[in-house]
Amino acid sequence: MSTARIEPIKPHMGGIVHVAKEHLLEDQTIAAVREALEDRGVLVFPRMNLTDAEQLSFTDKLGKRVNYNRKAPGRGDDEDVYAITLDKKVNTQPEYVLGTFFWHIDGVTIDQPLPKATLLTARKLSPTGGQTEFASMYAAYENLPETEKQALEGVKVVHRMEASMRPVFDQIPEEDLARWRAMSAVMTHPLVWTHNSGRKSLLVGSHADSVVGRPIPHGRSLLVRLLEWAGQPAFSYRHEWQEGDLVIWDNCGCMHRVVPYDENSGRRMHRTTIMGEERVAGSARHG
Ligand code: OGA
Ligand code: MN
Repeated sequence: MSTARIEPIKPHMGGIVHVAKEHLLEDQTIAAVREALEDRGVLVFPRMNLTDAEQLSFTDKLGKRVNYNRKAPGRGDDEDVYAITLDKKVNTQPEYVLGTFFWHIDGVTIDQPLPKATLLTARKLSPTGGQTEFASMYAAYENLPETEKQALEGVKVVHRMEASMRPVFDQIPEEDLARWRAMSAVMTHPLVWTHNSGRKSLLVGSHADSVVGRPIPHGRSLLVRLLEWAGQPAFSYRHEWQEGDLVIWDNCGCMHRVVPYDENSGRRMHRTTIMGEERVAGSARHG
């Protein structure tokens, strides 16, 4: 009898993990969580109230931890815990966090395998907004009409950090552009990702800038249409946070975004990340 029970939330998306904190690090629990992650996309551990050290131990059990934000403002007490907040006292470069208001996949414009999973603990909530939404890119692909699946075969998409920052600004300041170009890579990925498992998912998000070989409006409208398709309620789940909740999502099979919240709300989430285990076929360009 397993120490963890996983209760589905919606047909395509979401699972609530019922497990006592003292069983969290057991091998059985870890195996059940890893297995459920791809199938359910997002797993909710209500009110786990993990400390940073406990969250890191859990992260390390699930995979290899990685931190893309070591140089960004917003460090937690431990350098591998990143605080997601718009609080100006903690975060002096809020653009990246403002970018989380738009559908995205983490780490797409970094020349490394896409992070396998992200873990967030809710430390402080905003009185308004701040719910996080997740959409299954597996369900989005699998439910496309066959003709459209065929039309998307072989299509390639260029992803760049400045595309994901465009919605955040009226006009992107030159110095920010230079900084992002230095810290990110322009990645070309297939629009349909065939995973090692054989399953296919869509790879789109705010970072998707253009479709290779198509005029800009044609490519971008396709990307926006697929984003809208994937975000529909049947394929997505909105998490209404309670303080202390821990949520893990399959970053290779889901996109996510947060409902806008006020920068003075004090909302603060502690994030850890698990390194990717599988590369999307694609090419990278730096600078
Ligand atoms: C993230 C992210 C959403 C949120 O941590 O990568 O997108 O709800 N966070 O803060
Ligand atoms: Mn994110």
